[in-house]
Amino acid sequence: MKKAIHIGVTGGAGQICYSLLYRLAAGDVFPSDQPIVLHILELPHALSALKGVVMELEDCAFPLLSGIVIGDDPHRVFDGVDFALLVGAKPRGKGMERADLLEQNAQIFVEQGKALSHNKKVKVLVVGNPANTNALVLSHNAKDLPRENIRSMMRLDQNRAITQLAKKAEVSVKSVKKVAVWGNHSASMVPDYDNALIGGKSAKEVIHDLPWLQGEFMKTVQERGAAIIAARGFSSAASAAHAIISSIRDWIYETPEDDFYVAGIHAKGNPYHIQEDIFFSFPLSGGEIVPHLKVDSFLEAKIKASEKELIAERDAVRKWL
Ligand code: NAD
Ligand code: LMR
Repeated sequence: MKKAIHIGVTGGAGQICYSLLYRLAAGDVFPSDQPIVLHILELPHALSALKGVVMELEDCAFPLLSGIVIGDDPHRVFDGVDFALLVGAKPRGKGMERADLLEQNAQIFVEQGKALSHNKKVKVLVVGNPANTNALVLSHNAKDLPRENIRSMMRLDQNRAITQLAKKAEVSVKSVKKVAVWGNHSASMVPDYDNALIGGKSAKEVIHDLPWLQGEFMKTVQERGAAIIAARGFSSAASAAHAIISSIRDWIYETPEDDFYVAGIHAKGNPYHIQEDIFFSFPLSGGEIVPHLKVDSFLEAKIKASEKELIAERDAVRKWL
């Protein structure tokens, strides 16, 4: 039997994890002979609910799930993990912006950064909002962890953009490629219609409706999180869990030549002249930023605005950096 991969997950009793944990245990990320051990962190008051989640995991009799560790102490629960999926945080409610969560959630990532700091091999995906700035806080507090081991999740935004383009062009999502989403995971994010391809051709040419691309398309993707909160009363969960699964796969498997994926990464040394000490979403291939992409002046201004917002978020959490 192969050696198990150890996956740390936070927020185990929450909405996203109610989908994520079962997909991890079912084998949706790693090859079908790869055992995993789940290390699940929760707040003390949610541990009894987490025990129910664990009972259900056991009741699935997943052949690849070879162990479960639970607890409320990040130092103990994260011990020896290969991945840390940091989902646990307070989600926004109706009428809130993600930035409203800055104060409340930054402290979580100070503590978890310290707990992960000594583990130089762990790959950390920050999902809890505001994800980019939480990743920045974590990176400053996980002093020994290389910054390239930390990402914030933008894959849900990419998936949302792919679907909107596919629906408009009346094609399968499979024919939509190279959809970048630049910047922050917030209403300022920049879904890039300029580099996207549909059936191998420029999405701009195929759709041939620039006002829609610059208007409804961008707005729908930017405000999708809020639209789901308004409709469901809770923030996206199953689609977020799916995006987490895809983000790990993006990280560990080869990127197809005709495509790229997105994630928030530390911007140091980026080829697009984005401020260095922020987590910014770039198109990536095989772990590297895809260079030499050009965007029109409309998108360029939006990318600058998203960068500005991330700088302001960084300034707001300065005391934790
Ligand atoms: P939820 O409220 O259902 O669950 C969050 C869980 O995290 C709770 O059980 C809570 O007890 C736990 N938690 C809080 N602080 C913790 C800590 N310090 N350590 C361990 N666990 C802790 O929320 P959810 O719907 O699962 O969403 C979780 C987060 O993911 C939110 O911040 C949400 O905004 C964010 N989110 C991000 C994306 C993205 O694309 N980046 C998408 C969807 C949701
Ligand atoms: C989302 O994009 O669905 C999440 O980030 C939740 C939110 O607050 O929008």
